[in-house]
Amino acid sequence: RGPRPLAGKRVLVSAGPTYEDIDPVRFVGNRSSGRMGFAVARAAAEQGAEVTLIAGPVALDTPSGVMRVDVRSAEQMRSAVLQHATVNEIFISAAAVGDYRPQSVAPHKLKKTGQGLALALTENPDILAEVAALPEHPFLVGFAAETESVEEYARAKLLRKNLDMIAANCVGNGCGFEAEDNQLNVIWREGSECLPRASKLVLAHQLLARVLERYQASGRP
Ligand code: PMT
Repeated sequence: RGPRPLAGKRVLVSAGPTYEDIDPVRFVGNRSSGRMGFAVARAAAEQGAEVTLIAGPVALDTPSGVMRVDVRSAEQMRSAVLQHATVNEIFISAAAVGDYRPQSVAPHKLKKTGQGLALALTENPDILAEVAALPEHPFLVGFAAETESVEEYARAKLLRKNLDMIAANCVGNGCGFEAEDNQLNVIWREGSECLPRASKLVLAHQLLARVLERYQASGRP
């Protein structure tokens, strides 16, 4: 057993995609496999934290010692996160929350009409921004998946969502969604650091070390 710098800390992690149902057999989803978030949950538990993992629909085993809550849609993820947010010192939001959901869910399988199909979508709530707006909220770490101007867009998200840190992954090149490896640019208000390409578990441990450093620098207990 290695050093346990997160002993005594409660860490909430979200992972995976959300599925937004169209009808009983179809949904709108995205390519997140949950690997990055599950690696963060595993690494936090290995570092001694008490970890709650809010997992979207993924095919992954629960890391040892982690309390897992399974959800499907963004709205379900929102209630699970809000239910746990205030009792945790740190929230790391690695989930790829669907930005939109169908305006209504058809009760029966939609039939082909030969006319095409227009799907009306409604915007989902921004879970991280809602947690940031709570009067007492955990230390907040977001993720950002960008395909261009990675640091610029991620820094804008950090400020807009009022986060303490954001981990930007440039998706593509065998990194990011679905892949075994990733590459992170960790950004906070006063600085940033690139964590070069490595397995998601190695990066998760490196990310948590930076999170703890910034957490302590923020003067939180
Ligand atoms: O799951 P893997 O296959 O391992 O892939 C990992 C990943 C690429 C999905 C992951 O590392 C990642 O980047 N997750 C965030 C994906 C994303 O696109 O985030 P975003 O830019 O839409 O959102 C920014 C932040 O706000 C994220 O922390 C997200 O969890 C949060 N968010 C977004 C939308 C929303 N409605 N509510 C949110 O809380």
